[in-house]
Amino acid sequence: MAIKVAVAGAGGRMGGQVVKSILESDDMELVTGFDPGGVEEEIAPGVKISSPDEMENVLKEVKPDVFVDFTNATAAVENVKVASRNKVKLVVGTTGFSEEQLKEMENAIKSNVPAIISPNFSIGVNVFWKLIAEAARHLQAYLYHVEIIEMHHSHKKDAPSGTAVKAAEIISDYIGGKTVFVYGRQGITGERTDAEIGIHAVRAGDIVGDHIVLYAGKGERLEITHRAHSREAFAQGVIKAIEWINEKEKSGIYSMDEMMKELEQG
Ligand SMILES: NC(=O)c1ccc[n+]([C@@H]2O[C@H](COP(=O)([O-])OP(=O)(O)OC[C@H]3O[C@@H](n4cnc5c(N)ncnc54)[C@H](O)[C@@H]3O)[C@@H](O)[C@H]2O)c1
Repeated sequence: MAIKVAVAGAGGRMGGQVVKSILESDDMELVTGFDPGGVEEEIAPGVKISSPDEMENVLKEVKPDVFVDFTNATAAVENVKVASRNKVKLVVGTTGFSEEQLKEMENAIKSNVPAIISPNFSIGVNVFWKLIAEAARHLQAYLYHVEIIEMHHSHKKDAPSGTAVKAAEIISDYIGGKTVFVYGRQGITGERTDAEIGIHAVRAGDIVGDHIVLYAGKGERLEITHRAHSREAFAQGVIKAIEWINEKEKSGIYSMDEMMKELEQG
């Protein structure tokens, strides 16, 4: 039986790509979408796109198995609450949450539904996170300086990207607690300290998403780079996440890492 999916943010860049991938999938059915701005008819022909104000009633009526959210942090917290109390499993790709917002979502989800939340659903980026941890593990003893550069299109609303923040946190864990995140640099900054992880956000044109972690020592530097060519990179990971979370019965928040480990073990 096809997995019944609802998409919030269906009229947006990511939500639109996810809608397209669901419509192309043989084992999924897009049962509804939500977007206050609506969507162009050709994106989801025949599928009702509702205002988020109608979400509670629509979910009760169409009973999706999985709810996907690509909106903004404030909207996503409310959407997660509505979906959780209606026992709809969750795939959340929205970024830019504060600590309080993450806590609110966790409370809504924990004893209600299984949910997978990730600031990046691309399979390549999830491998990139493992590689940068491995490089940090090898290089920490030699005091290589770490700088993270992310590049996105001019419409992106949050900075630095959730992917860059997660990269900094992963490396910080390996370097061991004494790190200071420095966002951009300006003016008379003085010398760089060994404890810094520099994080830099470039916003330009239609760049889908680049992330570079560089480790610089004396006489050399190592760079690990991921470049998304199109939003299909994220949407393909979302499709896998919908299939995977739909099989989970135990409530709580799962990671892409857990999903990939299970899928790799077959
Ligand atoms: N996790 C990932 O792999 C990944 C990849 C790319 C982007 N993102 C994140 O996804 C989010 C969306 O990015 P985008 O580029 O598609 O943005 P976008 O602005 O193009 O789309 C967001 C859409 O959400 C709609 N929206 C606003 N409030 C809503 C609500 N309450 N309910 C339903 N829809 C609502 C807006 O009208 C808009 O159409 C951002 O947080 C971005 O950082 C995550």
